[in-house]
Amino acid sequence: MKKVLAMLLTGALAVAVAGCGGGDKKQAAAKPDTSKPLVIKLSHVFQPSEQLWKSMQLVTDRIREKTKGRIDIQHFGQGQIATYKDGLEQVAQGADFISVEDPSYVGDYVPDFRPLVGPMMYESYDEYIKMIETPLVQDMIKKAEEKGIKILALDYIFGFRNLEVNKVIKTPEDLKGMKLRVPGSKLFIDTINAMGATATGMPYSETLSAVSAKTVDGLEGSEFSNDGTKAYEVCKNVATTKHFLGTCGVYISPKTWAKMTPEEQKIVAEEFKFGGKEMTEIIKKDYDRTYKHLLEMGVKFNDVDHAAFNKAVEKVYIDMEEKQGATKGISKKMHEEVAKIRASLKK
Ligand code: G3P
Repeated sequence: MKKVLAMLLTGALAVAVAGCGGGDKKQAAAKPDTSKPLVIKLSHVFQPSEQLWKSMQLVTDRIREKTKGRIDIQHFGQGQIATYKDGLEQVAQGADFISVEDPSYVGDYVPDFRPLVGPMMYESYDEYIKMIETPLVQDMIKKAEEKGIKILALDYIFGFRNLEVNKVIKTPEDLKGMKLRVPGSKLFIDTINAMGATATGMPYSETLSAVSAKTVDGLEGSEFSNDGTKAYEVCKNVATTKHFLGTCGVYISPKTWAKMTPEEQKIVAEEFKFGGKEMTEIIKKDYDRTYKHLLEMGVKFNDVDHAAFNKAVEKVYIDMEEKQGATKGISKKMHEEVAKIRASLKK
């Protein structure tokens, strides 16, 4: 009897699986409806004075032009619509939405993205650019797509992130008792806490008034954001910890992607890829001007005890593997990969 039941169940399962397969095939064969524009919202937190905002404007305009208005990506900056973790969630849930955020938010879905952009990992932009081309990272990109996040770029670089405060910070000890604003990414919160301060997660739009009101003692951000948003008006000291490389990725749902023809996908993929390279080149060229301007605005830069901060953030990497689901041994592997890249770039 048990055997008959098992046979019946196997048969029923086979029919169900065959049914699913047929459905998938039908879905894959469904043609995108090109009779009307595909409207997609693109969201980030940057201001019109910052390069990322300008780059997104360029990329979305070029896509609209090259697809003759069919792919209409509407650009929202300054956190006007869902950003940070919430922006990524829109994508993961399949909305017609492009989220432009730090790769650490992808870590909520594929935890290995946290060590990829972990503290003190990179010394130059090129190290990171080479790192994201490695099979290790390309594999992570595939895993993200399986989780509903298609990655169109990871390299909209906007400079190394430092501590912007109103006193000289050289060691983790100097940060004791200080509250610093960070974006609400777990990686950022854990890192700033490990570095010795108390991290306060807050959208950038509220940050400068929070510093003025002394709700927080400062923030962590890049030279370019410092200049673009005029953070220098409220923070006069920059401790050059370079604890993160400021970079954004571009994320879209595979469901939205399937609404484009192969030709449209090619245009969108190429334009976002080109836009990242273009932005990084602009940022590299603009570094000296930005630095000089910040000095003119009265900002004082100081070097820090990098060894002490490196030691302090070790536990962030341990936690990623022990408590946050990152692959065992991934941090060591990534550090070794970056060390190899660093050596090859120095040749
Ligand atoms: O995800 C974007 C993030 O990296 C931007 O940081 O400090 O401008 O909010 P922030």
